[in-house]
Amino acid sequence: MAKENVSLSVIRRLPRYHRFLKELLDSGTVRISSGDLSAKMGLTASQIRQDLNCFGGFGQQGYGYNVKDLYEEIGRILGLDKRRKAILLGAGNLGRAIALHMDFSSRGFELVGIFDSNPALVGMDVGGVQVSDSADLESFCKSNHPDVAILCIPKEAAKALAEMLVECGIRGFWNFSHYDLTLDYPNIAVENVHLGDSLSTLCFRVNELEHDRIRKKN
Ligand code: NAI
Repeated sequence: MAKENVSLSVIRRLPRYHRFLKELLDSGTVRISSGDLSAKMGLTASQIRQDLNCFGGFGQQGYGYNVKDLYEEIGRILGLDKRRKAILLGAGNLGRAIALHMDFSSRGFELVGIFDSNPALVGMDVGGVQVSDSADLESFCKSNHPDVAILCIPKEAAKALAEMLVECGIRGFWNFSHYDLTLDYPNIAVENVHLGDSLSTLCFRVNELEHDRIRKKN
């Protein structure tokens, strides 16, 4: 059980623990010491202990962690067993790639609808889900009660659509639209994704390495 006020940065590390533990589980590892887990993940053993202690702690002195138990427990903490309903808005290049390649079920979701305003895309099958007309979005939400919306629409369309979706009961956004929803909806869970930010960070880091090499040469 989570202690109160677990920081978002701890929560953000949990999926990574979960992913590493799945790899260990698949490779047949039964238990792992906090030292080995930390070396594998590039974190300190004390960081891992601190993170897991937020949820009561799972390791045993001298034993380490039981991989399966910890994997399942972190999955439970994340709520991955819940199967919440997700809808995707914008069946363009990005939307289709996400619908086709994201393993929703292992992340606690089921993709129940895809919507687009372009009539040419309506009716198209994307990974077993038919694209619906976004004009039908409101009535779909009323009868299906989706929990979260994935926004793969242009920035200009996001504000109005988000407003309507919140009215329809959407409680979380996985937002690729470059429109910052966090300020408008402090009580809604928003995960903004900007792949470009990560690429710019990479640019900075590559530049830094180059500067370091030049400094060392001179
Ligand atoms: P796209 O043009 O292929 O697809 C956008 C789709 O949204 C179109 O099918 C369009 O008909 C639909 N659409 C527009 N307004 C709508 C509305 N009100 N309701 C329902 N559907 C609507 O564009 P692409 O490449 O799929 O990118 C989608 C958006 O994601 C773009 O705005 C792009 O800037 C952004 N993007 C964000 C990334 C990120 O890391 N956050 C990475 C790549 C793209």
